[in-house]
Amino acid sequence: MRIDVITIFPDYLNPLREALLGKAIERDRIAVGVHDLRDWTHDVHRAVDDSPYGGGPGMVMKPQVWGEALDAVCGTEEPMPRLVVPTPAGRPFDQATAIRWSSEQRLVFACGRYEGIDQRVIDDAATRMPVEEVSIGDYVLVGGEVAALVMIEAVARLLPGVLGNPLSAEQDSFSDGLLEGPCYTRPEVWRGRAVPDVLRSGNHAAIDRWRRDQALERTYRRRPELLAELPEGALDKRDRAQ
Ligand code: ADE
Repeated sequence: MRIDVITIFPDYLNPLREALLGKAIERDRIAVGVHDLRDWTHDVHRAVDDSPYGGGPGMVMKPQVWGEALDAVCGTEEPMPRLVVPTPAGRPFDQATAIRWSSEQRLVFACGRYEGIDQRVIDDAATRMPVEEVSIGDYVLVGGEVAALVMIEAVARLLPGVLGNPLSAEQDSFSDGLLEGPCYTRPEVWRGRAVPDVLRSGNHAAIDRWRRDQALERTYRRRPELLAELPEGALDKRDRAQ
């Protein structure tokens, strides 16, 4: 997969080169390009924003600069990339979105600052490529960069050869619609707290059942709305007895 990010703060994306993602880039599992939006300005001030039509506080990012940047980064060759625009006014990003995007060949993230990007940029791009405006949660960040980092990490770890152990992605919270339960490692007793007996029993059926019950209980306590969203037949008889 190739991922491009357009931003006025390229250094904000430096964490992409760290740790697991950095290794995936080194091993050519993913290619990442970070582009400075100001490279497509033509004035001495390298201005990227202007005051909003209709008045109001804040500034809006200029369509001319974004238009040229997207033309250059997205190109015209098929398959066109999927363009992602992080914004608190977007549809919610979730694990299902990450899974869906993980089969794309190219993703381009357009990170806005200020009050946002002139809407015509998004509407114009949508005539040539799939475009999604997405939010990572119901809070407001100062720009799309951190949101892009979050989404890129969630997608990249699903790609083959990025995670050391592919089972980790399969056993995630949300992969079965439930939150993952607690986990433990050595020592057996720490500060007077013992690891649950069942996990040391060697009885794998009992361990699976215990984990499932813990996941159900945690989901019920922390995110009850997730239980209501489970597809028909997702809970078996033993689950429902919980
Ligand atoms: N930009 C500012 N806030 C955001 C959010 N919550 N999600 C995505 N992009 C954003």
